[in-house]
Amino acid sequence: GPETARLVASRVLDVPDFPKPGVVFKDLMPLFADGAVFREVVDGIIAHHGRESFDTVVGIEARGFVIAAAIAYATGVGVVPVRKAGKLPRAAYSASYALEYGEATLEVHQDAFTAGHRVLVVDDVLATGGTAEATMDLVERAGGTVSGFTVLMELGFLGGRERLAPRPVHALLTV
Ligand code: PRP
Ligand code: HPA
Repeated sequence: GPETARLVASRVLDVPDFPKPGVVFKDLMPLFADGAVFREVVDGIIAHHGRESFDTVVGIEARGFVIAAAIAYATGVGVVPVRKAGKLPRAAYSASYALEYGEATLEVHQDAFTAGHRVLVVDDVLATGGTAEATMDLVERAGGTVSGFTVLMELGFLGGRERLAPRPVHALLTV
């Protein structure tokens, strides 16, 4: 709710011209570094989706790993990393996408999911939605079912939510 949104807003730093000129980067490291706020935020995500609504959590490299691991530990489910190209040791599916500031390829192990498992996908920031779209594609190719997509912060002016429609997007804070 509005209190969680205020909490997130209080722990984000705007970094001008990172990683490229003209981009104002939202840095959520201060939120991760504050134990009480981090716990509140993770508990808020779990409460929003319901702890019985997913069987696995996917974290998107790199900051999504931090949040996904916390959700997994708190709920007792497993965590599956979606990684940048070339990092996974075994047979993987790949999906390429355009970023707000470049291009990238994401991968997931082909055997990462038990068939039919409901997967909650988490990341720190939703910007253009390219990363999220590629990740949901990978989860579905690997046999998972996306039950929800959650970010701490959504950059509404970049249109990620519209791009992902009709899949539901939950953001603790939208700017
Ligand atoms: C950032 C962020 C999201 C993605 C959002 O990660 O953590 O994963 O970009 O952008 P999009 O909605 O426009 O696709 P980044 O690619 O900077 O990777 P990193 O976490 O490994 O630094
Ligand atoms: N912060 C973190 N990740 C991002 C951003 C940002 O401002 N833009 C695109 N991905």
